[in-house]
Amino acid sequence: MKCCDTMKVALWCVVVVLIGALSFSSEAQLDPSFYRNTCPKVHSIVREVLRNVSKTDPRILASLMRVHFHDCFVQGCDASILLNNTDTIVSEQQAFGNNNSIRGLDVVNQIKTAVENACPGVVSCADILALAAEISSVLAHGPDWKVPLGRRDSLTANLTLANENLPAPNFPLDRLKSAFSKQNLTVTDLVTLSGGHTIGRSQCRFFVDRLYNFNGTGSPDPTLNPTFLQVLQAICPNDGGAGTNLTNLDVSTPDTFDNKYYSNLQSGKGLLQSDQELFSTLGAETIPIVNNFINNQSLFFENFKASMIKMGNIGVLTGSRGEIRRQCNFVNSNSLGLAIPATKDSSEDGVVSSI
Ligand code: HEM
Ligand SMILES: *[C@@H]1O[C@H](CO)[C@@H](O)[C@H](O)[C@H]1NC(C)=O
Ligand SMILES: *[C@@H]1O[C@H](CO)[C@@H](O)[C@H](O)[C@H]1NC(C)=O
Ligand SMILES: *[C@@H]1O[C@H](CO)[C@@H](O)[C@H](O)[C@H]1NC(C)=O
Ligand SMILES: *[C@@H]1O[C@H](CO)[C@@H](O)[C@H](O)[C@H]1NC(C)=O
Ligand SMILES: *[C@@H]1O[C@H](CO)[C@@H](O)[C@H](O)[C@H]1NC(C)=O
Ligand SMILES: *[C@@H]1O[C@H](CO)[C@@H](O)[C@H](O)[C@H]1NC(C)=O
Ligand SMILES: *[C@@H]1O[C@H](CO)[C@@H](O)[C@H](O)[C@H]1NC(C)=O
Ligand SMILES: *[C@@H]1O[C@H](CO)[C@@H](O)[C@H](O)[C@H]1NC(C)=O
Repeated sequence: MKCCDTMKVALWCVVVVLIGALSFSSEAQLDPSFYRNTCPKVHSIVREVLRNVSKTDPRILASLMRVHFHDCFVQGCDASILLNNTDTIVSEQQAFGNNNSIRGLDVVNQIKTAVENACPGVVSCADILALAAEISSVLAHGPDWKVPLGRRDSLTANLTLANENLPAPNFPLDRLKSAFSKQNLTVTDLVTLSGGHTIGRSQCRFFVDRLYNFNGTGSPDPTLNPTFLQVLQAICPNDGGAGTNLTNLDVSTPDTFDNKYYSNLQSGKGLLQSDQELFSTLGAETIPIVNNFINNQSLFFENFKASMIKMGNIGVLTGSRGEIRRQCNFVNSNSLGLAIPATKDSSEDGVVSSI
């Protein structure tokens, strides 16, 4: 009937408008099949480069997982960490948590070049970081997950915010919790994501105070296993030097992604204060979570997948916000020798949106 057909059409229109309004107003939606038609090989391209590089530099897997974390905690997962200093950009790479510490930015560029060769101008640097983090987990024998994609790259960086948001290794548990809750991440996310320290290295300068003069006491951190303390003191002399010697974050299985990080905490072998506190803070709600992960590695893996996806969703730019950078270290309008300026759309939206 005519009347009803009209009503159906009208109702349909209302529904369409509502759905449209919702999808623009609510949190941006990423999608694991975002590049299915535009760059179907992106995952395998990133994997091949990482497989290649990790043969000679196994630590690269850890380093790239950390880059994704340090990207997401500063104005969202928008590749802001990759922007270099220029006339208009104050790079986050000199933040306290990044300076002489973040690694693998050259390999990110290597990946970007390989991806650009296959699908020019399509894949964001922010998505490359998220993919590299997942592939690193897999190559280190950790869990795999379907990485939600469709992030775009920021037009800005924020050094001040990087210094504010990146947690420090001497933070007490309550400051670790607030740093994570500022990103809408829970205490369970904190314990789970700290498990990223099941691979990779740390420089002595990030924990040397625990070995000689913990918290101004003139003595070592009492929660440190005495044997482990001696091992660490041998690698990290109390010489007031730069403290750039390296040691494994996971003393048991340094390059394997597993739940040994948590068993280490149980025996006083957490490397950073921020690690050991998850288990050694009296009465803390983090202790039972650590115990659960010690008892059940699958549980850790399931939580890790979920928390990584959650972290990967922080403050993402989608749709027409931000841009797809041609070179990860520079916004397009700043790229050297390139004639095409950023579109009016992306520059206007990006400036307003990348908070
Ligand atoms: C909870 C707060 C955290 C603190 C205080 C912290 C601190 C640190 C520090 C000080 C280092 C050593 C850096 C160096 O020596 O240059 C490090 C390394 C690392 N962090 Fe964290 N981190 C935290 C959370 C995370 C999270 C959430 C992840 C990822 C899910 C992560 C992944 C890594 C990895 C893989 C490394 C080794 C990097 C490499 O070998 O190049 N960390 N972290
Ligand atoms: C892997 O490394 C080999 C030798 O260094 C090189 O020829 C090849 O192009 C690399 N492949 C990728 C995907 O980077
Ligand atoms: C960006 O800065 C880093 C140091 O933070 C440097 O190693 C790298 O070469 C720079 N990249 C470019 C393309 O200039
Ligand atoms: C970053 O490291 C360089 C040495 O590579 C040093 O000169 C500079 O003062 C450091 N910046 C900050 C903010 O720590
Ligand atoms: C950078 O972060 C600081 C600290 O949160 C904030 O006050 C400032 O507005 C931010 N700057 C920009 C350009 O977003
Ligand atoms: C956390 O959630 C609140 C409320 O939904 C939101 O306003 C805020 O932007 C979120 N923060 C981050 C860093 O995503
Ligand atoms: C460090 O010392 C301060 C007092 O100087 C104390 O309040 C704090 O709890 C100590 N932190 C740790 C982890 O022992
Ligand atoms: C660590 O660095 C010091 C200099 O600070 C050096 O003398 C020492 O040999 C290094 N130790 C190890 C085990 O690498
Ligand atoms: C371990 O965790 C997994 C994943 O959550 C769960 O399916 C399994 O039942 C748990 N195993 C035990 C013995 O509790």
